[in-house]
Amino acid sequence: MAEVLIVYATDHKGTLRLAEALAQGVESVQGCTAKLKTAEEAVADDVLAADALVLGTPVHMGCMDWRVKKFIDQHCAGLWMGDKVVGKVGGVFACGSGYGGAGGGCELTMLAMLNNLAELGLVLVPLPKNSLGYAQGGLQWGPYGRAHNEDLSPIEGGLPAERAQAARQHGKNIARVAQALAGKAIFG
Ligand SMILES: Cc1cc2nc3c(=O)[nH]c(=O)nc-3n(C[C@H](O)[C@H](O)[C@H](O)COP(=O)(O)O)c2cc1C
Repeated sequence: MAEVLIVYATDHKGTLRLAEALAQGVESVQGCTAKLKTAEEAVADDVLAADALVLGTPVHMGCMDWRVKKFIDQHCAGLWMGDKVVGKVGGVFACGSGYGGAGGGCELTMLAMLNNLAELGLVLVPLPKNSLGYAQGGLQWGPYGRAHNEDLSPIEGGLPAERAQAARQHGKNIARVAQALAGKAIFG
């Protein structure tokens, strides 16, 4: 049994589609459930109740959306002060749209969120390069999507299959790690 909390922000549904694919991956693991909340809805008690916290964001100016950072500062900082979530599991994903394959700053955006999750004492789950869909939708830090093609033309038909595959795989991996560690005191 493990619950994975997915906290995300979105304007144009690109990040939401990734979040939904990731949730499918979580729920493909027997006994695991995914809880999706926007960064504006989620509170500290949601994190406390979960075995894993996954953050997803649109890439904004090469960094995370302000709503995700506000969630971290407003609701997670107290958890950090009290060491309340040490040993839970963490992961990230992002949706860019700028020039270049992963968009401008997608990797830095994921690293910034992973940095915040490391501060909380979470066990961070990467996305290994042998993951399904990695070639199109993977970075070692987590899956990424795009709201537009590399030439900035709109992507038709929602989340491309390979990107959805990478997000599902990440959800599955996170759920399995969360299940393996749930209830175990592994630090300190
Ligand atoms: C203020 C702002 C800044 C942005 N900065 C970047 C950026 O630095 N790199 C990038 O790849 N995309 C950038 N974008 C594009 C968004 O990342 C892209 O539209 C994203 O897919 C939106 O996600 P969503 O569909 O979940 O809203 C920016 C968009 C906005 C509104």
